[in-house]
Amino acid sequence: MKILVINGPNINMLGIREKKIYGNLSYPKLIEMIEEKSKELKIQIECFQNNIEGEIINKIQSAYAEYDGIIINPAAYTHYSIAILDAIKSVSIPTIEVHLSNIHSREEFRHRSVTASACIGQISGFGPYGYLMALDYFKEMGVINE
Ligand code: DQA
Repeated sequence: MKILVINGPNINMLGIREKKIYGNLSYPKLIEMIEEKSKELKIQIECFQNNIEGEIINKIQSAYAEYDGIIINPAAYTHYSIAILDAIKSVSIPTIEVHLSNIHSREEFRHRSVTASACIGQISGFGPYGYLMALDYFKEMGVINE
């Protein structure tokens, strides 16, 4: 099983940015946790982070027929990127949306996700464990394509 993990803008600033919300864990440490878990589960993964919407779309498109699942934290793009929504729909790869913070307990503009409707579901508010939960889901449930 091959899973692509995509992180959007400012996720590379973890450990520096708004620590009260996102905690002290750095982006490299987050990736270490994800890689460790995927080894344990015997899942092959690639982790990708980019601050540019088009680069994220290019990465999603390149996953077509290459990956069995996607775990994505589109970060701020969650709230307005119809282009990322369309990219997820285009490749029809089972996708899980993850947010470190609970977007539903924050500012009103964060409550809405335009990308989640193309996903199996959304995990929000569990910090780095959200990514590990998503990996567990793929391992446990397999990747059921439509
Ligand atoms: C985030 C939540 C978004 O609202 C925000 O723009 C982010 C991170 C999260 O992981 O909690 O950059 O996706």
